[in-house]
Amino acid sequence: MRKIFMLAFILILALVSCSYSQENITIGACIYRFNDAFMLRFRNAMQAESEKSGAKISITDGQDDQNTQDAQIDEFIANGVNVLIINPVDRMTSQGIIDKAKSANIPVVFINREPTPEMLNSYERAYYVGAKAEESGTQAGQLIADYFKAHPEADKNHDGKIQFVMLKGQNGHQDMILRSKYSVEAIKAAGFEPVEIASAIANWDKLQAMNIMNAFIMSIGPENIEAVIANNDEMALGAVEALKNNDYNKGDPALYIPVVGVDANASALDAMDKGEMLGTVLNDADNQGASAVKLAAALASGKDINSIGYTITDNKYIWIPYQKVTRGDK
Ligand code: GAL
Ligand code: CA
Repeated sequence: MRKIFMLAFILILALVSCSYSQENITIGACIYRFNDAFMLRFRNAMQAESEKSGAKISITDGQDDQNTQDAQIDEFIANGVNVLIINPVDRMTSQGIIDKAKSANIPVVFINREPTPEMLNSYERAYYVGAKAEESGTQAGQLIADYFKAHPEADKNHDGKIQFVMLKGQNGHQDMILRSKYSVEAIKAAGFEPVEIASAIANWDKLQAMNIMNAFIMSIGPENIEAVIANNDEMALGAVEALKNNDYNKGDPALYIPVVGVDANASALDAMDKGEMLGTVLNDADNQGASAVKLAAALASGKDINSIGYTITDNKYIWIPYQKVTRGDK
């Protein structure tokens, strides 16, 4: 009998100390810039998961400045956080962040902006949570190809080719490079010949994209643009604004240019419902945010990272799949 009591006592002790250690975890998280519609969804997902699991999370705004973010990381380390979640301003400087984490012996989970494999491999406690950029590019290109298959009249100059303009995200971002490349590849793979008539960097930003699209419309003429491919929804919506200002995409089928983005932000889904935008690709912030926090908490508490409910690839990566979204899917 005594033995059983003893055993139960030890079990309760173990359970209490287990939840105690989870609740005592502090996560220092750095976002490249708060003023980013997709990263807002990501932040909210991390906050929600932290509340659920009892981990303490503190999230800072890097204001799109790597020096500002570096200072925030130094402060987190000085304050003794148990684990870092980093959305680097400049993913190519991630080695410096990894070195800092390594010398403090703190695990680090990168999100959304992917360090190179060499960088991640330089520290066994460095990880990446994100989505495969090429997958989103392929799916965005397929949305355009599917539209042209269903609407032969979209080839306005009847030359059998698709004359498109491209709005690109920040320079050097894997999503900018690979979405631009694979969207065009997917159009080719579907049997069309894509022709880029103009392209520009609009830094994920709606206003910049609107101004650029306005300039394209002025110089090229809207009647000569057969499709708009944007690396994200905010830029797609900027393009839609510019088109609407020129009486396009307001309901007249003769004055319509298919526009695609990536993210599936609420504002893009609304534009799709109104027929102003063709489609988007779900960038799953909920699962990326939740898995990043779960991974970080497991790393900090010494829990098996393979038991958090997400597949860890190459002992380094959590890949959350993208998903095509068209009108009516909302
Ligand atoms: C991309 C997303 C963009 C922007 C960017 C920030 O994955 O599609 O909208 O948020 O990340 O790094
Ligand atoms: Ca054409």
